[in-house]
Amino acid sequence: MCYAIPGKITDIQGKIAFITYFNETKKAVMEQTNIMVGDYVYAQGGYVIEKIPVAEAESMLEAWQDLFFEFKEVDNQFSNPETKLKSSNPELNELFRNVTEKNQLLSIADAEKIMQLKNKQDLTLLYQTANSLRHQNLGNACCVHGILEISNFCQRNCLYCGINQQNISLRRYKLTKDQVLKLAVQAVEQYHFKSLVLQAGEGSYTVAELAEIIKTIKSHLNVLIFISFGEIGLPGLKTLFEAGARGLLLRFETSNPNLYQKLHPGFNLETRLSHLRYAYELGYLIITGGLIGLPGQTEKDLVQDILLTKGLNAEMFSFGPFLPHPVTSLAKHALPDADLVLKVLALSRLLAPPEAKILVTTAFETLKQNARQKGLLAGANSLMLNITPIRLRKLYEIYPKRKHNVTSIQKQIDQTLVLLKSLGRAPIDLGI
Ligand code: 5AD
Repeated sequence: MCYAIPGKITDIQGKIAFITYFNETKKAVMEQTNIMVGDYVYAQGGYVIEKIPVAEAESMLEAWQDLFFEFKEVDNQFSNPETKLKSSNPELNELFRNVTEKNQLLSIADAEKIMQLKNKQDLTLLYQTANSLRHQNLGNACCVHGILEISNFCQRNCLYCGINQQNISLRRYKLTKDQVLKLAVQAVEQYHFKSLVLQAGEGSYTVAELAEIIKTIKSHLNVLIFISFGEIGLPGLKTLFEAGARGLLLRFETSNPNLYQKLHPGFNLETRLSHLRYAYELGYLIITGGLIGLPGQTEKDLVQDILLTKGLNAEMFSFGPFLPHPVTSLAKHALPDADLVLKVLALSRLLAPPEAKILVTTAFETLKQNARQKGLLAGANSLMLNITPIRLRKLYEIYPKRKHNVTSIQKQIDQTLVLLKSLGRAPIDLGI
């Protein structure tokens, strides 16, 4: 989805295109050589995706024009509430004012204090502050990626994960290149997704197979491809970049090396981070983050998780609750509190670079009713819809009772559009 509205190229400097949308100008990397100043394009995640015929672009812009400003007005109202909340703690009021009005960076000590907030009014103030910062920095754009789970085979034994190799009761599937292509074509041509995340358990395909899948999709479609296949090795990252992948979704799960080691027997955090650092060097857009509410995880750990995400140059922060799976050894662990998740999203917004995207995950939606709305009003501005065929979704059971597991793609899109409209968010990605 991400109905990426057409933008007009107003300048090109080297590989950077300057794209104007109504009155705003954004930048995007342009790899195509057949696009000139004056052409209309779609951009996504900071990449130019494709050129659009002038007549088509102009009629789409006309259709969007009124809606765009209408949406902005609704978002303005949500982001600048008439009655501004105040905390009974003057220090907190001052802290939040400095963040929104003076763009002051939070210290680690302040971030840790914020992670410890419990009082309802203070939390509401935190969420409002994060929402106004999102509004100030990024306007009302909300990015919607599609995620396609192409195989549930996995060679790892992450203690928290329902599809880990030890789960021998799970029926495994692995889509062929042609099956993946067919689903990608449907996602782009029928449902208008401009970016797709391809995900599979680690080791389910060889790098050569993955490269073939990506090349095939890229030769048929103009679409931004994110890969999410676990640790495929540094040479693997290079091969898949050359095949056409431009984004990497790989959570580091926790920034605490001891906790990482306990949850991933035989593996270490450093190897995972080396993938993320190398991928950034290669030019991948990075989506990373961690799990919230892991056994033994502290609030300080969560602050470090956010800082690590920032340090890894993530264009999108992906944090979601840990939801215990009955077949794993962590089955009996308690669910995290929804406010803990919202605190991480809001604090991410306060600590992240201005242009960072923050995702509301399906796991959060599974934990809490109206999680999307709550997250989008607490600093978040991105969603991912599951576009895996329904018959396979239940087999990709990383945690139980996943939300939207039996909801058709069209229904998910319709529901998302209703929600975004109600909040004045436009389902578009304007680039950076
Ligand atoms: N609860 C929530 N998220 C989970 N993941 C794996 N298992 C669980 C769980 N039980 C997440 C991990 C992984 C992503 C694909 O799924 O963060 O990176």
